[in-house]
Amino acid sequence: MLNHFSDEQILAIVEENGACKENLLYILLKLQDLSPQNYIDERTANLVAERVGLSRVQMYDILTFYAMLKTKPRGKYIIEVCNSSPCYASKADRVTAILEKELGIKVGETTPDGMFTVSYMPCNGYCEIGPVIRVQGRTHGNLTEEKIKEIIDGLRNA
Ligand code: FES
Repeated sequence: MLNHFSDEQILAIVEENGACKENLLYILLKLQDLSPQNYIDERTANLVAERVGLSRVQMYDILTFYAMLKTKPRGKYIIEVCNSSPCYASKADRVTAILEKELGIKVGETTPDGMFTVSYMPCNGYCEIGPVIRVQGRTHGNLTEEKIKEIIDGLRNA
């Protein structure tokens, strides 16, 4: 599915955020965050490249260099499971298994309704409340099966 913004809206966002190569990563992350499917589609990438004076190849290199930039559609909600050692030791694999069971997908996949994507993330400094997940920029820790189900239900009903 294509990004829901018009060309004019995309360019307005680029302008609001600096419209230059120095701000490119910030601009792309902003557009990705605003995308209902959490990714940069080809039309958006081409518009931004043209506006800031990059070739399409240069833009492609940038999009594929930074792991936080995505070029494929993802869920409305990205649930990231920390899989660094301290969280792993506090049963992050159990959290992953609960999420996979609840959502019916594996890590790296998106639910058929386009609501959720589950992925791994590295340590984000909340080890003392591990295992942790991050959703919409918010970290949740001390996770139990019940708490994970509550988080998912909350997002489903948001
Ligand atoms: S290891 Fe998971 S938050 Fe630090």
